[in-house]
Amino acid sequence: MKHVSTAPQPYVRGKTLTVVKPVDTGEVDRIINLAQNESCYGPAPGVVEAAAERARTAHLYPDPSNREMREAIAGQFGLDASRVVCGNGSEELLDVVGRVFARAGDEILFPEYSFLQFSIVAYRIGATAVTAPTKPDFTIDVDALMDRVTDRTRVVFVANPNNPTGVYDSRSDIEDLIERLPSHILLVLDSAYAEYCDAPDYCDGLEYVDRHPNIVVTRTFSKAYGMAALRAGWAYGPAEIMAALNNVRGIGNVNGCAQAAAIVAVRNPEFVRDVCAKSTAERIRLSNALKALGIEVLPSATNFLFLHFPPQPGRTALDALKYLARNGVITRTNEDYGLEDYLRVSLGSAEENDIVADLMASFVT
Ligand SMILES: Cc1ncc(COP(=O)(O)O)c(C=O)c1O
Repeated sequence: MKHVSTAPQPYVRGKTLTVVKPVDTGEVDRIINLAQNESCYGPAPGVVEAAAERARTAHLYPDPSNREMREAIAGQFGLDASRVVCGNGSEELLDVVGRVFARAGDEILFPEYSFLQFSIVAYRIGATAVTAPTKPDFTIDVDALMDRVTDRTRVVFVANPNNPTGVYDSRSDIEDLIERLPSHILLVLDSAYAEYCDAPDYCDGLEYVDRHPNIVVTRTFSKAYGMAALRAGWAYGPAEIMAALNNVRGIGNVNGCAQAAAIVAVRNPEFVRDVCAKSTAERIRLSNALKALGIEVLPSATNFLFLHFPPQPGRTALDALKYLARNGVITRTNEDYGLEDYLRVSLGSAEENDIVADLMASFVT
């Protein structure tokens, strides 16, 4: 074989995946990061202790089957533990779904302006990311989505409630999609923010799993459970699909500390309810304060707000982001989604939200 002096060539080239882009935060004493939709309330009592206790035996591998964690989740949600698959965050499970169900040339379909990870999943395996327009209020347009189903569609992702827009899709829209989507196409309902959504016509999707052969629901400990650093998520679906995901996920994907923490966390639903009640109260309070300033705030079913700004120089979403950053508050623009006129602001503590409201008041005046 002839020697060719080139470096190994990756099929997938690096794509910079900076979640928080570097911004000029000026000379401030305190940085408030409201760019990643984390919980400001931290984890439930006992969670940190459980992780620390497990760290004492850090020389021992974690249970590769995540058995106790799966049983704790199943017990809490009334599910079959053998069909729960745990992941290194739910992000890993979305990736595993892509690797199991799609290949180069296949299509992965999702509504426009939804979680960036969906296109990354497609990108990593050389599949084509196909997006369908949403309705003007950013909720799912089932007709538009169905119009884009082709012979090559293998997976449909729907984040509900959605990131970055914060809106939720109604039970009737999701059920319409389930009815119309051919059953050989996998529908993944990413319910990362489910705990925050108390709308009566919302469904996290778990109840659909037993009635359909093609539905997988993903959940996370990163948001309302306040455990983003530990990286723990889970998925639930039909037995054969979950077995396939299990075969492809990393062995030891959920580390021992995260497993121990998740077991304590999932057994404390009162804590999560309390977090969500506080978060909802803050969401309403900050939304009202911003609306009173004339800022357009989308209805949110999550722990963040999506704000619309006019494309007027000095008043744009990017101007607002820079102004907040110079004053120590980091938020997120949405040009990655083609939504340059919007700013995503995670909810912080009451004190942090007051700082946001005060800064926005001086920004608009
Ligand atoms: C819609 C959605 N799904 C999934 C995730 C991933 O969460 P994790 O990997 O931390 O479980 C996020 C994180 O921001 C998200 O916004």
